[in-house]
Order: sequence, then C-alpha cells, then structure tokens
Amino acid sequence: MRIDILCLFPEMFASPLNQSIIKRAQEQGLVNIVIHDIRDYTHDKHHTVDDYPYGGGPGMVLKPEPIFEAAEAIKQQLGVSEMPIILLTPQGRLFSQSVAQELALHSHLMLICGHYEGLDERVCEHLATDEISIGDYVLSGGELAALVVVDAIVRLIPGVLGSQDSAGSDSHSNGLLEYPQYTRPQVYQGWSVPSVLLSGNHGEIAQWRRRQAILRTAKRRPDLLEKGNLCDEERKWMLENLLDPK
Ligand SMILES: C[S@@+](CC[C@H](N)C(=O)[O-])C[C@H]1O[C@@H](n2cnc3c(N)ncnc32)[C@H](O)[C@@H]1O
Repeated sequence: MRIDILCLFPEMFASPLNQSIIKRAQEQGLVNIVIHDIRDYTHDKHHTVDDYPYGGGPGMVLKPEPIFEAAEAIKQQLGVSEMPIILLTPQGRLFSQSVAQELALHSHLMLICGHYEGLDERVCEHLATDEISIGDYVLSGGELAALVVVDAIVRLIPGVLGSQDSAGSDSHSNGLLEYPQYTRPQVYQGWSVPSVLLSGNHGEIAQWRRRQAILRTAKRRPDLLEKGNLCDEERKWMLENLLDPK
C-alpha cells in the first residue's frame, strides 16, 4: 500500500512514522508513506499557501492552487488518473474501526491535512473524494488526525502485525470491546489472575473471554452491543451478570 500525505508541517510525521509497528511495516515494504510539503507546490518567492477569507472574518484559509498541483503531481507520478483523496476535517464522516478496515483495502491513498481556518471549499468540492473527522473536537491541523488514520490503517495491512489474530480480537473489530488481558506474575500485590486463564482449557478460556467482552461492552459502551451478534444464551447470561456482578 502507498499513502501520500499533503501537509504544511512534514516534521510532525518524522517520529511517529519511525517507531514500532509503522516503522517495521515500512522496512518490510508493506507500506510506503510519502510526506509532501504543500509549500513545495507554490510559485512565489514567499511560498504563500494561505490567504484572507473572502467575506472577512478571522484566520487564514489554505489556497487551492498548491493543493491541486500537489495532488496532480502525485497522480502523475503514480500513473493514475483517479485515487481516493481524503481530506482530514472536523466536518467529515466520523473515523472508526470499520472505516479503517474499508480504507485498508485500497492500494493507494492520499491524505490532505488542513491548517489555520481550513481549506478553500473548492478543494472539498472538486478534489477530495472523502472527508474524515477523527472526533467531535477541533485540532490545530490535520497532521495529528492523519497520523491517527494512518496508524489504524497500517496495522490492518496483512503481515504488519505478528499474528493476524491480534487485530481480529481488538476492541471494535467484532463490534465488542476486547476482554481483559493478564500477564505474569500470577499474583501481584495479592491480586490473582482469573483461574480459568491458567486452566489450559482452550474452550473454557474462549468462552470466558467472549463473556467478559460482552459484559464490559454492556457496562462501558452499551451502544455497541447490537454489533456483537449475541446469541440468546449470551444475552441471558449478560442480563443475569449485569444485575448480579459477582
Ligand atoms: C483549526 S482546524 C479548522 C476548523 C474549521 N475552521 C472548522 O470549523 O471546521 C484546521 C485543520 O485541522 C484539521 N482538523 C481539525 N480538527 C479535526 C478533526 N476532528 N478531524 C480531522 N481533522 C481535523 C483539519 O485538517 C482542519 O482543516
């Protein structure tokens, strides 16, 4: 997969893209992430990327020309006439694990990061094919939002995670939050690991994990339960244990 990111502050990507899973995925050739500075596509000596908003008001707006030129240059380099071009904006559709799964299927993605008051609306109307928000709050720029989107997508690319199972059981992957995890020591400050996890009985462990995932989703995010495909027996067990949480 190749991901091209257009932004005003390329340095913001240096550290996050050079650590841990994303770094390894790039070294293994599973993803190629290319950062482009929008200023490189300006033609005046001050490399102007923004201007005052028509109609007045506070702040500056990113000009359309450098962004359209950058996108065109990338498409030419890739030899494609169309590709998914995602604008990071607090006005976009809300990012989620299912949107990450959808985006991870593409071979090429372009992400555009806004700044200041945002971008000239013609970028949204005539260049972007999708608009994504990472949450109902406003960041100073799209760089952090792009990093969130890239991280969530890259870990879904086959081969990136050591075991494919680890993405499959993650919270939000099957609709539920993930079950509680424990590691050594078996007893810490008098708190023991649940005995079923030490039993070696894989069937009982799987059932305990499924039930714990259901219970914590019911307690913390009941709005998600519908996506968990609970059977009648699981629903009955959940109701009993929500009322009597021993
Ligand atoms: C200060 S914001 C502009 C907000 C814009 N004036 C508005 O009210 O919709 C600057 C840039 O940060 C990015 N941004 C801010 N919040 C975001 C969010 N929740 N999700 C994705 N991108 C965001 C966008 O790229 C945006 O163009």
